[in-house]
Amino acid sequence: MPSPRDVDLRVDLAGILLPNPVMTASGCAAAGRELDAFFDVADLGAVVTKSIMLDPRAGRPTPRMAETPSGMLNSIGLQGPGIDSFLGQELPWLARRRARAVVSIAGSTLGEYAELARRVGSSPGVSAVEVNISCPNVANRGMVFACDPYQAAKVIAVVRRDVPRGVPVFAKLSPDVTDLVGVAEAVVAAGASGLSMINTTLGLAIDPGTLRPVLGGVTGGLSGPAIRPLALRCVWQVHQAMPDVPIIGIGGIKTGFDALAFLVAGASTVQVGTVIFHDPGAPMRIVAELRDELSRRAFTSAAQVVGLAHTPATDSLAATDLEGLRTP
Ligand SMILES: Cc1cc2nc3c(=O)[nH]c(=O)nc-3n(C[C@H](O)[C@H](O)[C@H](O)COP(=O)(O)O)c2cc1C
Repeated sequence: MPSPRDVDLRVDLAGILLPNPVMTASGCAAAGRELDAFFDVADLGAVVTKSIMLDPRAGRPTPRMAETPSGMLNSIGLQGPGIDSFLGQELPWLARRRARAVVSIAGSTLGEYAELARRVGSSPGVSAVEVNISCPNVANRGMVFACDPYQAAKVIAVVRRDVPRGVPVFAKLSPDVTDLVGVAEAVVAAGASGLSMINTTLGLAIDPGTLRPVLGGVTGGLSGPAIRPLALRCVWQVHQAMPDVPIIGIGGIKTGFDALAFLVAGASTVQVGTVIFHDPGAPMRIVAELRDELSRRAFTSAAQVVGLAHTPATDSLAATDLEGLRTP
């Protein structure tokens, strides 16, 4: 059995080389500064920044967070400082720290996405662009871009046009659709280098005192362990249909085993979100745990397990001592 330190965690994600497959999830660690008190952000696979819009935004009405039994609901509504402040302060900070920056962008119109792509694409220090398409489309009755394959593809096409070829573009998909593979195929055909899956799923909580919705914005995005099986199913289905398309697996990851589960389901890398709010050191803990999980199973690299769950069990783990590895 290889010792944990002999396990090679490096991954090639659509052409970018990462030291390990663990990234932060957009919106759960701003641009990484807060995490810097807990570990060196350059040790992460990458920092994915909070979705940035063209102009500063105040976000949705408060309260904007609600706890649920196994996750949380948020209706932050893309609060943020706007692209000028982001490019002037946050991106240079990440570059100074030598962290790999995946910049998440969000817009309300195709024109906004195009403008953001131009601004971000021409900035130094951007490893990849992640396109948050879970935003209401003002030109289409507020219907979320990610829920319509045609509109989702149009966003990716305009972004791809303005981001340099060497910078991969990831489309971040919503699970709130009936045909996820259809959306995935549409955005890949439009030029997405890979897929980030999943964004939060829409939920609602009722306050027992007022008997009204807890959140000021009424509905919110559900995240955390509650959505992990849903996210794993999404990764599995899309990898099954498009095995060559790089996938970033996201949803309720709390441990190294959770990360491993996403890799074997078909993700090349993972993002860690909600767990950061109560355990800010979680991303680097998960890197160490993933190393252990791979080593215990006699794997020598993270890359070799990507998609493994799609092959018969006897082919994959025949030589491995499985004693004690029956994880719930
Ligand atoms: C408070 C909060 C804010 C978020 N903001 C964004 C965002 O700005 N852009 C985005 O693409 N996803 C955003 N997300 C979704 C996460 O990036 C992630 O896809 C989702 O939470 C599932 O992962 P998790 O269960 O590990 O948190 C946010 C999630 C939370 C909890």
